[in-house]
Amino acid sequence: MAGRTPRAVAAQTAITAGIASLVATALATQAASGEIQPLMSLGSGALVGVICFLLVYRQLGLYIQDRVRIIYKTIRRLKGSTSHVHLDMGQDIIEQVNHDVMTWADSQIEEITTLREADTFRKEFIGNLAHELKTPIFNIQGFILTLLEGGLNDPEINRKFLLKAAKNVDRMAGLLEDLDVITKMESGTLDIELVPFDLLEIIRETMESLEPKARRSEIDLRLKKGVDASQIMVKGDSSKIVQVLTNLIVNSINYGSEEGHTEIRCYDADDAILVEVADNGIGINESHLARVFERFYRVDKSRSRHAGGSGLGLAIVKHILESHGQTISVRSTEGEGSTFSFTLEKA
Ligand SMILES: Nc1ncnc2c1ncn2[C@@H]1O[C@H](COP(=O)(O)OP(=O)(O)OP(=O)(O)O)[C@@H](O)[C@H]1O
Ligand SMILES: [Mg+2]
Repeated sequence: MAGRTPRAVAAQTAITAGIASLVATALATQAASGEIQPLMSLGSGALVGVICFLLVYRQLGLYIQDRVRIIYKTIRRLKGSTSHVHLDMGQDIIEQVNHDVMTWADSQIEEITTLREADTFRKEFIGNLAHELKTPIFNIQGFILTLLEGGLNDPEINRKFLLKAAKNVDRMAGLLEDLDVITKMESGTLDIELVPFDLLEIIRETMESLEPKARRSEIDLRLKKGVDASQIMVKGDSSKIVQVLTNLIVNSINYGSEEGHTEIRCYDADDAILVEVADNGIGINESHLARVFERFYRVDKSRSRHAGGSGLGLAIVKHILESHGQTISVRSTEGEGSTFSFTLEKA
């Protein structure tokens, strides 16, 4: 079929029309001279019409299908599909092709946007990681150099600098540990086993372990009255929920106000339990609120009494809850405090 062009199709159609008109004229002449019956002439004319229609229809069909198939082949090949193209000649084919090409173009644009986003994300991620590792590594380098340049023999500073170096190593180890958790969660290799456990018991244990830290920062850590009387059974991975509570409570302490408080509340919400960690700390400006769950995202450090977080805590919290099929949200007013809420399925 190669070489079929609009001109060739027009020529073939013209030949068909020419032959048809010759036949029609011959029939009309014969009918007029009485050689054949007028009814027979009409019947033959109709037959010629049908044959012409079929011939033109076939020429046009072959031409359009040839061309359209090429378009579909290109689309399918790019999409990785090899399935057969079926064209309904009774339909407005050009409109149908136009629609399919537009849909294809939209999906291509979407794919390109996703790839671009992933690329930006990757670049940002590497940039952030390098930035986070730079500070502790430079600190350690500085401490070691000071020790090597004579500090080692100075009993005043040798132990102090070694302790500082060790603290920076801990910070790096913590960062890598957090990254490991996030990566595993994102690739789905971190197993979450949903088993029934007593949420209140977990909350009390976590509060107890964080009590000394809260006391040092003069934060009053409390459980909302009324919920500490009973047991609250939920489904989840209790060690991961401890991590969620720890991250949220530690944040409430780190970004709390002097002599502030943190309150943990539990509410019954039909099939789920709603847990809230509320503080009256520095709060978060609305412009940052939607982004605090992103990896490495931190609101201006200078505002808080605490410095040195890597901005991974809430990203981990969000991942853990999502892997439980649950969600987390935050409401906050700058200068007044923040409340983080999440749900857990009742056991
Ligand atoms: N309770 C809170 N009150 C005010 N700001 C908060 C609170 N919790 C989180 N934030 C803000 O959100 C940012 C992200 O919190 P996230 O826990 O993810 O990171 P981080 O605490 O900075 O570091 P990390 O938890 O990894 O040590 C924080 O840097 C802080 O600016
Ligand atoms: Mg944190």
